[in-house]
Amino acid sequence: MVVLVLLSLGFVLAYILARYMPISKRKEPKDHYYSLPGGSMGWPFIGETAAFFKPHRSDSIGRFLQQHCSRYGKVFKSHICGGPAIVSCDHELNAFVLQNEEKLFQAAYPKVMHDILGTYSLFFVSGDLHKKLRNVITSFIALNRSNPDFLLCIDQLSISLLDSWRGRTQVRFHDEIKVFTLGIMVKQLLSIGPEEPTAREVLQDFVTYMRGFVSLPIPIPGTAYSKAVKARKRLSKRVAEMMEGREKREEGGRREGSADFLDVIMSREDLNHEMKVSLVLDILLGGYETSATLLSLILYFLARAPPTLLHKLKEEHEAIRAKKGAGEPLNMEDYQEMEFTRNVIHEALRCGNIVKLVHRKAIRDVKFKEYVIPSGWLVFPVFTAANLDQSLHDNPCEFNPMRWTVSEKGMGKKLTPFGGGSRLCPGAEIAKLENCFFIHHLVLSYRWRIKEDEMPIAHPFVEFKRGMLIEIEPMEDNNHH
Ligand code: HEM
Repeated sequence: MVVLVLLSLGFVLAYILARYMPISKRKEPKDHYYSLPGGSMGWPFIGETAAFFKPHRSDSIGRFLQQHCSRYGKVFKSHICGGPAIVSCDHELNAFVLQNEEKLFQAAYPKVMHDILGTYSLFFVSGDLHKKLRNVITSFIALNRSNPDFLLCIDQLSISLLDSWRGRTQVRFHDEIKVFTLGIMVKQLLSIGPEEPTAREVLQDFVTYMRGFVSLPIPIPGTAYSKAVKARKRLSKRVAEMMEGREKREEGGRREGSADFLDVIMSREDLNHEMKVSLVLDILLGGYETSATLLSLILYFLARAPPTLLHKLKEEHEAIRAKKGAGEPLNMEDYQEMEFTRNVIHEALRCGNIVKLVHRKAIRDVKFKEYVIPSGWLVFPVFTAANLDQSLHDNPCEFNPMRWTVSEKGMGKKLTPFGGGSRLCPGAEIAKLENCFFIHHLVLSYRWRIKEDEMPIAHPFVEFKRGMLIEIEPMEDNNHH
C-alpha cells in the first residue's frame, strides 16, 4: 500500500517536473539582471505558483499580492506556472502588454489547458490563424447583437426563469443563472431549445469541463482533469454529429429557420473540422460562465449596498416599462436607455473581478518604465490589482456605481475587465445585454436577500461561498409581464 502511494506521488511529481522543466531551465539573462524588478523565485520548480493561485475573496487582491506589492512594488518577478515570470499590478503596464499582443507579447495559457480546450482554441492560436478564427466569432456576434430574435430569446428566457420562482422562497441563484446564460448561447449557436434534454446534457458536460481547468493535470481515470478531457470529447462528438445531421438534411434542401452559428461555420470551407468544433466550444466556454458570474455579482453587491441604489435602479426600469405595453418585449432602444444599469454592471466588474488575470509571455526583451522583461518570461497582468488600486479609484473597495456617472469615459480608461488589444473580448456587449435584460425583469418582480457570510471567491474563476443562495419575495405589483 505504502509503495503504491509512493509510486503515485512519484508519478505525479515526475509528471509535473516533465511539464515544467523545459521552461524552468531558462536562466535569467545576466545583462538584464539590474533592471529586473525585485521579487522572489520561491521553491525550486514549483516557485510561487500555489501561493499565487490560492483562492481569496474576489473583491480583494488576496494576501499574496498584498504582501508582494508592499515588499517589491506593483511589478515584481516570480516563478509561476513552471517558468520565470513578471507579475504586473500596474495598470499602465497591463494596458501596454495588452496593446502589444503579437509585437512584444503573446498569449501563453498553461499546457494543461491545451489538452482540454484543443489546439485550435482562440486562447492558444496566434498570428494569422488567430485573426481568421476570431473573425468568424466577431462577425457572428456582431450580426446577433442587434438581431430581434436574439433579443427576444434573452427576454423570454429571463421571464421564464423568474416565472419558475413562483411559490419559492429560496433560489440557488448562481446555478440557475448559469443554466440561463448557457441556454441563450446554446439556442443561438446550435438552435437547441432550453427545454430539450440535450441542453441539460451540454450544461453538465460544461460544468465538468470547467472543473478540469482548476485541477492538477493528472491523467488518471477519475480525476477532474481526465473527466474534463472526456467531457470535451463528448462535446466535440456532439457538435460533429449535429454537423453531419445537418449536412444530410441539407442534401434534400435548405434547413428551416434562420441560420445559427453552426450553419455559418459549416459553410466555411477554409476551416477544418477541429477548428469548427473549437469555435463552438470557445464561444460557449467564454460566454456562459462569465455572464452568469456577472449577474450573481450584481445581486451580491446590490444586496449589501444602501437601499437607495436598488431604488434608483428600479426607477430606471419602471420608467422604461411605463412606456411599453404589458408583456411587450424589450428592444435595442430600451437597452440604450438602461444607463444606470450599465454603471451598476461596470462597477460590479470592477469590484467583483471575474477575470483576475491573463497569461502572456514576452517574445522579445521588453523595456517598460525602469523594468526589463526578458524574452521568454511569462507575464501576468493582474486586472484585480488595477481595479482595486487606490491611486486610481477613491475608496476602491466601496461598490459605488455613481463613480461611473461622473466620468464614464475617464473610468473606462482605468479598467480592462474584457482585456484589450487584438484579444479584446468579443462578447462584452452580449454579456451586458443579457445582464441588462435580466436585471430589468428581476427588479420589477422580486426583492432578494443573501446570507450574512456570502462572498465571491477567486479560484481564480469566481465561485460563491454559499452558491448565491438568495431568499426571494415577489413584489406586490409583479404583473409587468
Ligand atoms: C462578463 C462577461 C465576460 C468577461 C468578464 C469576459 C472577459 C474576457 C477577457 C478578459 C478576455 C481576454 C482574454 C485574454 O486576453 O487572454 C476574453 C476573451 C474572450 N471572450 Fe470574453 N468575457 C465575457 C463574456 C464573453 C461572452 C458573452 C462571450 C461569447 C459570446 C465571450 C467570448 C470570448 C472569446 C471567444 C474570447 C477570446 C478572444 C480572443 O482570444 O481573441 N466572452 N473575455
